[in-house]
Amino acid sequence: MKDILVLGIESSCDETSVSVVKNGREILSNVIDTQIPIHEKYGGVVPEIASRNHIEAITRVTKKALEDANVEFKDIDVIAPTYGPGLVGALLVGLSYGKALSYALNKPLVGVNHIQGHIAANYITHKDLKPPFLCVLISGGNTQIINVQDYTFFDLLGKTRDDAIGEAFDKIARVVGLGYPGGPKVDKLAKEGTANIKLPKTHFENSLDFSFSGIKTAVINTNHNNPNIKKADLCASFEKAVTEVLIENTKQAIKETNTTQIAIAGGVSANSYIRNAFLNLENEFNNLKVYMPDLKLCTDNGAMIASAGYYNFINGNINNLDLNAVPNLKI
Ligand code: KG4
Repeated sequence: MKDILVLGIESSCDETSVSVVKNGREILSNVIDTQIPIHEKYGGVVPEIASRNHIEAITRVTKKALEDANVEFKDIDVIAPTYGPGLVGALLVGLSYGKALSYALNKPLVGVNHIQGHIAANYITHKDLKPPFLCVLISGGNTQIINVQDYTFFDLLGKTRDDAIGEAFDKIARVVGLGYPGGPKVDKLAKEGTANIKLPKTHFENSLDFSFSGIKTAVINTNHNNPNIKKADLCASFEKAVTEVLIENTKQAIKETNTTQIAIAGGVSANSYIRNAFLNLENEFNNLKVYMPDLKLCTDNGAMIASAGYYNFINGNINNLDLNAVPNLKI
């Protein structure tokens, strides 16, 4: 069978990324142009500034992706931009660029759900991973437990009722003075601390849903009321508490579905404490295999979008040029 090269285009938040992936699993190039230094001084992503920077970067990043992969536009079989969820102005840049390429080059357009992309990062890292499996999606915008029944067929088992876990990491980092983006900084500082501060953990009866707003507020108040508290202890305690909630709901989902495969995905799946906690599940459940993306594929990138685009394409999910950005797109 002929190889299929997919050009994945990601611009849903603060990374402009374009990638060429072969047959959904092999990265030929993955260029990531991050805007973190630009947004750092505002303490978070400023949507309008993100859109403008995507426009400035998209052509340069695409050229570099083709160059790194040693291919030309004519060699690409499918154009796969993210069309949601994300910041609408940011999404529109990558999507419009993808639509223009699809029209000009006469190549099929395949829109990709960003969440599906995060899940697909696991297909690139683990060539043997095939659905069905459970995916715990932990990112800046989402926290979900998803039953991945097939490459393009998903069942949502649980989700956050308020903040995404990454949002909580970023907020806590800001409160204790670590800056943006907070996740990696909390991860690092927590290693120097002890999880000795009691924080509230939210569980819902008969539900796999999450809530992180209570613990976020508790950390803010604890920090405010105890100015001399060790920030490292606060970070370690927060990390431990949110991980316990994630693991508890995941165990419940494993029992309910009898799955033998579980994956984590999204920016927060780069967290070292969380990665260890999930790996430990292999010791608790017979026959359970735990998967996680390479660190560089956890946060937003074009390769994961290209991989998901490949599976959409071979399953016949091709879009027309009237495809629009959907900021609150669901899985
Ligand atoms: O997946 P992602 O790049 O964006 C979305 O699709 O939402 O995730 C970004 C989130 C941010 O909240 C960031 O702080 C968090 O992932 N993150 C981490 C780590 N690395 C990134 N959170 C905890 N520990 C990390 N090592």
